[in-house]
Amino acid sequence: MDDNKFYVSYNSVHKLVKKLSKELLESGYDPDVIVAIGSGGYIPARIIKTFINRPIYAVGISYYGIDNKHREHPTKIQWIDEVQSQLVGKKVLLIDEVDDTRATLAYCIGELLKYKPEEIAVLVLHNKIKEKDVEFPAEIKRYFVGLNLDDVWIKYPWDADDIESHTEKERLMLD
Ligand code: G4P
Ligand code: MG
Repeated sequence: MDDNKFYVSYNSVHKLVKKLSKELLESGYDPDVIVAIGSGGYIPARIIKTFINRPIYAVGISYYGIDNKHREHPTKIQWIDEVQSQLVGKKVLLIDEVDDTRATLAYCIGELLKYKPEEIAVLVLHNKIKEKDVEFPAEIKRYFVGLNLDDVWIKYPWDADDIESHTEKERLMLD
């Protein structure tokens, strides 16, 4: 594998999301709203809407503030304001692209739980099998993972400069 990087094409993202949507529906979880963690969760959330048509709320959480400086902890850079009340008693589907250290996801879950949703289910394209900095709170009963990976660096298509060579690298890697 190219220096321990795992290339993912747009087509693979789409197929993973389709597979995850099927698993979600088969599990009997019927979310009322989708919350996408930006920026990595935005594109997967849009694709899931093709299979599970629910309103999408976008939240921005990052180690990087709007000033682009790196922080010690994840911080909110964009948040649901007036729609907070929309989450009370609702079944939420929280989407991000990757579960790495879990710090961003856990922080976001902690904030969303303050709005007393009925349940929060977590869905990610990729989970890295590694020691996590934090665990999910006990309230998380459903966790959907597209693909479990070792602790490698994932190259997502939206970060690509040349999308053709990016896609080709995935093809070579999977050969
Ligand atoms: P987690 O809760 O999802 O595990 O996230 P964590 O705080 O560990 O991750 C910090 C940032 O690093 C996140 O981006 C996450 O998307 C990104 N990241 C972690 N592993 C990978 C990887 O293998 N490949 C890529 N491309 N990114 C990775 P962020 O600061 O939230 O920014 P954004 O890119 O989502 O906007
Ligand atoms: Mg992210």
